[in-house]
Amino acid sequence: MKQDGGTEAAKRKAGRVAADRVTDGTVVGLGTGSTAAHAIRALGEAVDAGLDVEGIPTSYQSRRLAREAGIPLTTLEEATPDVAIDGADEVAGFDLVKGGGAAHAREKYVDAAAAELLVVADPSKLADRLSHPVPVEVLPDAAPVVAERLRALGGDPDLRAAERKDGPVVTDNGNLVLDCAFGPIDDPAALAGDLSAVPGAVEHGLFVGLADAVFVGRDDGVEVHEAERSEASE
Ligand code: 5RP
Repeated sequence: MKQDGGTEAAKRKAGRVAADRVTDGTVVGLGTGSTAAHAIRALGEAVDAGLDVEGIPTSYQSRRLAREAGIPLTTLEEATPDVAIDGADEVAGFDLVKGGGAAHAREKYVDAAAAELLVVADPSKLADRLSHPVPVEVLPDAAPVVAERLRALGGDPDLRAAERKDGPVVTDNGNLVLDCAFGPIDDPAALAGDLSAVPGAVEHGLFVGLADAVFVGRDDGVEVHEAERSEASE
């Protein structure tokens, strides 16, 4: 998607500062989207300069970018990510809506497997309350019944249409996406639980309780918000 220069600069700063957090000898979950792409490129430069890391991509896009950037790749069968860096479509505190690139299913299990999730964003993503439509990846045959369930949960599902292809978006997993508007979401954790229980829904884009830090690119630098974690949750 075309961005104005300020937004792109903010994404770049956030991505690069988050990538600086990655330490030698670690495994990194590689998020999807234009902001995560900046982190992947920065990590590639660090690898060129001698950093020893391996990446676990969350999409066709991030795999290709990582290969181009020269980041060695691994899989969840062989390694557990120490850290993941990922973008978001909306950020309220440490709760996220993701899936603008239809990669949220893989993003969620890689991000959740990581010991630490660093979210990278430009200021336009910040909100007091989540209200962005929630992408729900669905098995193709299940789309009508999932849409019915989403309506029963108070949502307004819309099958995501492809650009430069007739018909719907097909995810990297061969599924479809329903973008479901719920209006302002009062209780993201409760809605996430309800969405997870819909038969035929593969994964939804509400990421609740996963983010450990949010990096927001600003004109004068990068604002970092760190989540407080109790000892028990570590
Ligand atoms: C992909 C995602 C992206 O991280 C999200 O859409 C943000 O993208 P961008 O950094 O390009 O604004 O969730 O599924």
